Amino acid sequence: MNINTLKVSESRSNQVDASNIQFGKTYSDHMLVAEYENGEWKQPEIVPYENISMSPATTFIHYGQSIFEGIKAYKNEAGEVSIFRPHDNWKRFNISAERMAMPDVPEDIFINGMKALIELDKDWVPTSEGCSLYIRPFMFATDEFIGVKPAEKFKFMIITSPAGAYYNKPTKIYVQNKYVRAFPGGIGFTKAAGNYGASMLPTLETRKLGYDQILWTDGVDHKYVQEIGTMNVFFVLGDKVITPDLSGGCILAGVTRDSAIKLLKEHGYTVEERPLTIDEIRDSFYKNELMEAFGTGTAAVIAPISELYYDGLTMNLPPVENWKIANWLKNELAGIRYGRIEDRHHWMFKVC
Ligand code: COI
Repeated sequence: MNINTLKVSESRSNQVDASNIQFGKTYSDHMLVAEYENGEWKQPEIVPYENISMSPATTFIHYGQSIFEGIKAYKNEAGEVSIFRPHDNWKRFNISAERMAMPDVPEDIFINGMKALIELDKDWVPTSEGCSLYIRPFMFATDEFIGVKPAEKFKFMIITSPAGAYYNKPTKIYVQNKYVRAFPGGIGFTKAAGNYGASMLPTLETRKLGYDQILWTDGVDHKYVQEIGTMNVFFVLGDKVITPDLSGGCILAGVTRDSAIKLLKEHGYTVEERPLTIDEIRDSFYKNELMEAFGTGTAAVIAPISELYYDGLTMNLPPVENWKIANWLKNELAGIRYGRIEDRHHWMFKVC
């Protein structure tokens, strides 16, 4: 595919303080833009990162037809740049698109466009351990119309941002038993902007109480744990690793989640994907069998949980430095991503 590219006259990459990269605050030199109109995608373009202008009547602003993905590119010791499992995010993006009545984005635009963008901005991929280039593909409806109807015009874009740790210490998690994120038949399995919009008030309340994030429970009984606001969740109860299963359409099928399950199983751990109640977690805590709890996500990577609050009970986890499973998993994943461990699953998609 031929991508028209307009390059910046001077790169800003040398302005990045490599010793202090904060998540999501700096954007690299270029972005990819593709427009969808009259039932087809136009040729994508790579242009300098800049503000976009649009009509105040643009439909996604009002009705939320908007989806996104999170992906990361890594640089190994030899200076080679690879993207972690981008085809899996591409597939999930199109699953979100279908549910939100948006067009499929073809591989040529999503994957090849991303590859061209990252190759152009390869100097923006950080080299230090724990750092990467966060890639944010997104699509939104661009019809100008105040009535409610499925849109016919869309814009697909990719921006990138050098990223350090999303959480730089173990997280304190509040188990939500009042508000609801997802329910069967809804959009919980998609990466739709609205899922995050609806979580802002509960997140604000949770933060005021001193917690970093919410662990969502099911919308009927508030009994089954689903996912954390920014990541999927795993518990080590006794010697078993348990994560909520994806049936019911309420949980995002995380690419990091899937990688974690595969690596843990391959290493001989028992991993169960099944419905998991907060009562089972609480009982394990009382029996001293709540050994580890962690989130998995592109941004969060493997994020240990130090404390879980549920209905008046604070469950403190053992010190993270003594954890066997999450620490092993974090090292294994980092080893694959930075090229120190053989990429047995062919997860790293080479860019340059
Ligand atoms: C990601 O992990 O990439 C996400 O999209 C989560 C987001 C809330 C930062």
